[in-house]
Amino acid sequence: MLTPVEAARAPGLVLGIESSCDETGVALVHADGTGVPRLEAHALHSQIEMHQAYGGVVPELASRDHIRRVLPLARQVLAEAGRRLDEVDVVAYTRGPGLAGALLVGSGVACALAAALGKPVLGVHHLEGHLLSPFLSADPPEFPFVALLVSGGHTQLMRVDAVGDYRILGETIDDAAGEAFDKSAKLLGLGYPGGPALSRLAEQGDATAFKLPRPLLHSGDLDFSFAGLKTAVLTQARKLGDDLAARQADLAASTQAAIVEVLLKKSMSALRETGLRRLVVAGGVGANRELRRQLNAACAAARVRVHYPELHLCTDNGAMIAMAAAMRLQSGHAVADHRYSFDVRPRWPLDAIDT
Ligand code: KG4
Ligand code: ZN
Repeated sequence: MLTPVEAARAPGLVLGIESSCDETGVALVHADGTGVPRLEAHALHSQIEMHQAYGGVVPELASRDHIRRVLPLARQVLAEAGRRLDEVDVVAYTRGPGLAGALLVGSGVACALAAALGKPVLGVHHLEGHLLSPFLSADPPEFPFVALLVSGGHTQLMRVDAVGDYRILGETIDDAAGEAFDKSAKLLGLGYPGGPALSRLAEQGDATAFKLPRPLLHSGDLDFSFAGLKTAVLTQARKLGDDLAARQADLAASTQAAIVEVLLKKSMSALRETGLRRLVVAGGVGANRELRRQLNAACAAARVRVHYPELHLCTDNGAMIAMAAAMRLQSGHAVADHRYSFDVRPRWPLDAIDT
């Protein structure tokens, strides 16, 4: 039996729509008011192939493709879950941060669907989606924990005490870790998105071949800086000249080692400083195998439990948006409403989530 408060906070079936950048994601999550909400189905369309010719995301093309994909994906998840559209209780969408035009597609479709159904809507913070995505795994974390959020646009260490209770312990003062992967990969001629390509190449290289800087490693705080790394990679690539092709894997491995070492050391410092014994890693760079290998080893030695999202849910997806909405509603941190007048937040710091 649910208590009256739990019953009032049982969001039911949440349809989540993600369209902040270059993936269209739609998912259905069911939350009965207790326990961890359950993923019923999710579907994703990646625009990577479309943007590859341009070496990066073209915002206008991204928006147009979201328009083409979002409703077919919604139909697909409903069919996969064996649900009818009118069974949806809440429609959630990514409100920001992200590309304004791309965000407007998901928000507009979410509000139109909800208005047609007479159901409430909820705008979700994209980074909260990443942060809570490990709750979609078979072994979900428990609060409190330290979170390392490493995506294409953000690199933050956070203390997370509960849903909606996020304190930033440190963050990047310039480029994000994902950007460092992407920009270095571009300098090595690996195309977009560079992170996965660079890490694949790095597996065949010698990580000690080149000495690259570990910015802010000994700064005594939990901030990061990755902008200098790409300059060092560029200098090294120029120095190699014609030999670059033969040494590409070594340079990729050395670059990855520099990024991973900083992320590892600062995460372990955050755990020591907070005294917490649980680490959650989220965001696209959380898919990096070398990062996972080193974090697993360091956390085992420090008797810290480490949680990751499933590999396919590290990068952008609709499941994390539906999950974040369900957890916010269930915990009483947010209320879905019937106003259908949406505004997107292309820039939206996570510590301003309630504004
Ligand atoms: O979280 P995400 O999908 O998008 C943002 O919210 O930004 O993260 C995308 C970032 C890109 O920079 C991509 O290169 C990086 O995650 N990434 C990786 C790997 N897979 C994705 N970086 C390193 N190794 C990977 N395996
Ligand atoms: Zn993301």
